[in-house]
Amino acid sequence: MASTDPSSRLQAIPPYMFAELERKVADKRAAGIDVISLGIGDPDTPTYPHIVEAMRDALADPSTHQYPSNRGRTEFREAFSRFYASRFGVAIDPETEVIPAIGAKECIYNLCFAFLDPGDLALASDPGYPVYTGGPLLAGAESVLLPLEPGLGFAPDLGKLSADALARARLIFINYPNNPTGAVAPDGFFESVVELALEHEILVVHDNAYSETTYDGYVAPSFLATPGAREVGVEVFSLSKGFNMTGWRCAAILGNADAISSYWRLKTNVDSGLFEAVQLAGVAALEGPPEPLEEMNAVYQRRRDLVVDALREIGVEVGAPKGTIYVWAPVPEGHTSTSFAELVLEEAAVVISPGSMYGPSGEGFFRISLTTPDERISEAVERMREHLG
Ligand SMILES: Cc1ncc(COP(=O)(O)O)c(C=O)c1O
Repeated sequence: MASTDPSSRLQAIPPYMFAELERKVADKRAAGIDVISLGIGDPDTPTYPHIVEAMRDALADPSTHQYPSNRGRTEFREAFSRFYASRFGVAIDPETEVIPAIGAKECIYNLCFAFLDPGDLALASDPGYPVYTGGPLLAGAESVLLPLEPGLGFAPDLGKLSADALARARLIFINYPNNPTGAVAPDGFFESVVELALEHEILVVHDNAYSETTYDGYVAPSFLATPGAREVGVEVFSLSKGFNMTGWRCAAILGNADAISSYWRLKTNVDSGLFEAVQLAGVAALEGPPEPLEEMNAVYQRRRDLVVDALREIGVEVGAPKGTIYVWAPVPEGHTSTSFAELVLEEAAVVISPGSMYGPSGEGFFRISLTTPDERISEAVERMREHLG
């Protein structure tokens, strides 16, 4: 073994499925071809001005310059408590039921270290955000995939879990509105997760990265509004997507006080908390005017309609998502996810994500992200119409 070989845990992380596609994109760009990427889900418009302004003020305040505590500033915890009450009708004790996270990704990863031992399992939505499976592996545990069933509105069939999986599972990762499928939580799904978690003593982690990004009047609930949820679970609320703050790394974990206390204990050994100026910017985001978010959602809804209409015109049967920044659609007959993504790149110079990137149940689908300026999205769908129609 060479001194530079990574640990077996790191080696167990599946290879990055986008690598080959990325290489092809780089080749095309080097050859002067104008490639439009609808791959990554990273808001293309700036953070809202009132948040940037609050950050400026917070930076000038020396009380933000020292090590933060992992518990978070009082202002941050109280702002989350008020936001959860008014937005979701959920009472959060600012003393014990909320602390900051350095983005949802950090939080999900560290929850694996806080709760999983070798031999334990995490139940992970498939397709899903890759940390649901990578986190458990890096923590020395395992994950069991929970296939999201198109026929169930992209919820998993919890009845299909084996007795062994249920006995060994300590965590379940769910996420609605969902990346990559764009699905919203089907009626009754959160309730059945609470029931499962109570019966089998599994900690529920609801990854709430997209509740503020919804369309057609749909209002996404918090998992914590489900009766019994606080007894069995936590919710990770990220400001990344709804507030155009992906670069700021601002999120919080809310819900079960004992679980949050264990996560806090782990974090005191791993990181030194979320920059307090970012926490104060987060307060401004949560307490700011609703208009910027409403305008942003109107922009995404317009882009969504452009994409959905164009896909339908070229014969792709696709539903219009009620939330998230993604359109999830089946690949045409005779294609795999990867072969279709390659075809779209070759013919139209447009990058789409193969569904298989998000887990085996994503095979047969592709994902289009709406975080590209309107004129580029229009150009991309025009090209797809022209070359694939
Ligand atoms: C489902 C889901 N969870 C978490 C994240 C990461 O959020 P954060 O920027 O807060 O780490 C993403 C980002 O794409 C996501 O799609």
